[in-house]
Amino acid sequence: MAPLRKLLLLLLCALAAVGIAVARGKKTEEAPPAPPAPTEAEVAPSPAPSAPALFAEGLPVVLSTVPPGLPSLSAQGCNGCHYAAHDTWIGSQHAIAWKDPVYQAALRSAGGSTACLGCHLPLTNQHAELAAGYVDGDLSRPRLAPNPSYDATLQSEGVTCVACHLRGDTILGTRESPNAPHAVVVSAELTQPELCATCHQLSWPEGDRPYYDTYGEWSASSYAAAKVTCQMCHMAPTTGISVPGSDGTLPAHTFSADVRRALSALIRLPSPVVRRGQPLAVHLTLQNTGAGHSVPTGNPFKKYRVEVALLDSARKDLAPPQSLTLARTVETTPPYRTTADHRLAAGASMEADFSFNPSAKGALGAGSLVVRVVHNEQVTVLSEVGIEVR
Ligand code: HEC
Ligand code: HEC
Ligand code: HEC
Ligand code: HEC
Ligand code: HEC
Repeated sequence: MAPLRKLLLLLLCALAAVGIAVARGKKTEEAPPAPPAPTEAEVAPSPAPSAPALFAEGLPVVLSTVPPGLPSLSAQGCNGCHYAAHDTWIGSQHAIAWKDPVYQAALRSAGGSTACLGCHLPLTNQHAELAAGYVDGDLSRPRLAPNPSYDATLQSEGVTCVACHLRGDTILGTRESPNAPHAVVVSAELTQPELCATCHQLSWPEGDRPYYDTYGEWSASSYAAAKVTCQMCHMAPTTGISVPGSDGTLPAHTFSADVRRALSALIRLPSPVVRRGQPLAVHLTLQNTGAGHSVPTGNPFKKYRVEVALLDSARKDLAPPQSLTLARTVETTPPYRTTADHRLAAGASMEADFSFNPSAKGALGAGSLVVRVVHNEQVTVLSEVGIEVR
């Protein structure tokens, strides 16, 4: 259990550091020069209320009251007005961060550890129990007591709206919203990648590399240098009415991104003509042209199989498909040391040669060569070129 205790400690420190390091609020405007005496209209505006830090004290965040103008803390209440944000969020992994069966299974095998809850349930009232002290001061052995503010609805919402948008009595937005029925303050943190790093960057003590390293990979990429943030790629603006009466664009809350945007697959063939029964050499250049971090990123157990398939005119395999795997290999126990890394870093590319032995029996005519990504039984075609089977 020692690693878990250390993980918890480390998390608390890391999260506090992230919270503190992030640039906050807006600059106060300078007062106008003294003479001539200013009229009332010329007096410098009082400084804009500065936004509270989002994760100053790490996770979970305490939100105890429902602020004036909001029906509840639930995403269901926001849905009445911000339905575009709600309807994109509801299909995201964030909305199922608690209910996700893959997570629930992993949580059970980690003994329900409180170290697994912070990022998946970022608010205190999402927790059925809270630590009311620790056995012998050991942070991996919390003395759990029922949480009087436990909110079952909020728990089911995982990484819910208010985790990123509410502190105290104030909604945090990216622009002034004087017409909102609830208080809004502008927060510079919302558009910073450090917001995402709070949960998408994690190190185990004694680990040779961070366990989740999406923010680290991004920081080392040319996207960071060009100030292309996580939000720019993962929260692309969707047009549509974000609030009744408003015609603005709104950042999408699906958060996901398409693997077809991440990878380019360039195929080289000796000729468009493929002869049955004769060997065929295929050269593949695979480039990470669209992800601001490695592909795949995040969970180090994630594996992408990149398959090259040779299809006849009946779209049947003319030869068995061949493949390569993009993955990081880590040991299966803490601190999950990395033993190999065959992923594509941002902007990187790799070359691969495949040799097919097309069957003598395939259907003649217009066939194709397909490059596809297989992950969790989900198949995504990256590229397809035509061939002539003879
Ligand atoms: C009764 C309607 C209503 C409800 C409920 C509501 N909001 Fe708002 N909200 C508004 C309006 C109106 C604005 C101002 C929009 C504008 O100025 O274009 C606003 C502004 C905002 C902004 C600033 C960004 C923007 O687009 O202007 C954020 C962020 C926000 N709300 C989040 C939330 C969250 C999170 C909830 C639920 C906890 C919520 N709101 C509940 C109506 C509502
Ligand atoms: C993981 C954090 C996160 C969650 C969860 C989240 N949002 Fe957001 N939201 C953001 C970020 C970040 C932005 C700003 C993106 C940008 O402009 O680059 C944003 C922008 C918005 C805006 C527009 C802000 C503006 O000033 O233009 C609204 C409205 C909003 N969110 C409402 C919601 C609602 C409603 C939910 C729940 C259904 C929700 N958000 C869940 C992070 C989050
Ligand atoms: C409060 C913690 C938290 C914050 C802040 C947060 N995330 Fe997440 N995010 C999670 C968790 C937890 C999951 C995994 C949920 C699951 O599948 O169980 C996740 C999943 C995702 C996924 C899907 C990953 C997959 O494997 O399908 C993407 C993409 C993502 N987040 C992007 C972002 C971006 C971009 C930001 C910043 C704007 C952000 N997140 C902020 C906690 C967070
Ligand atoms: C230049 C655009 C770009 C930037 C910048 C970027 N991403 Fe991504 N991201 C992508 C694309 C495209 C994918 C899809 C690749 C894949 O499926 O693995 C992706 C995939 C992901 C995934 C895995 C999703 C899944 O389904 O497995 C997570 C998590 C994620 N990004 C988080 C982040 C975070 C956090 C940041 C900032 C530190 C960030 N991204 C910056 C484009 C970007
Ligand atoms: C620092 C925040 C954080 C902590 C602490 C955390 N997670 Fe996560 N978890 C995430 C994020 C972010 C993702 C999405 C990663 C990705 O796919 O890129 C995730 C994804 C997962 C997934 C994959 C879900 C899927 O559908 O693919 C599982 C399983 C998981 N976490 C289990 C756990 C367990 C078990 C623990 C405790 C040992 C834990 N998490 C602690 C942030 C966290």
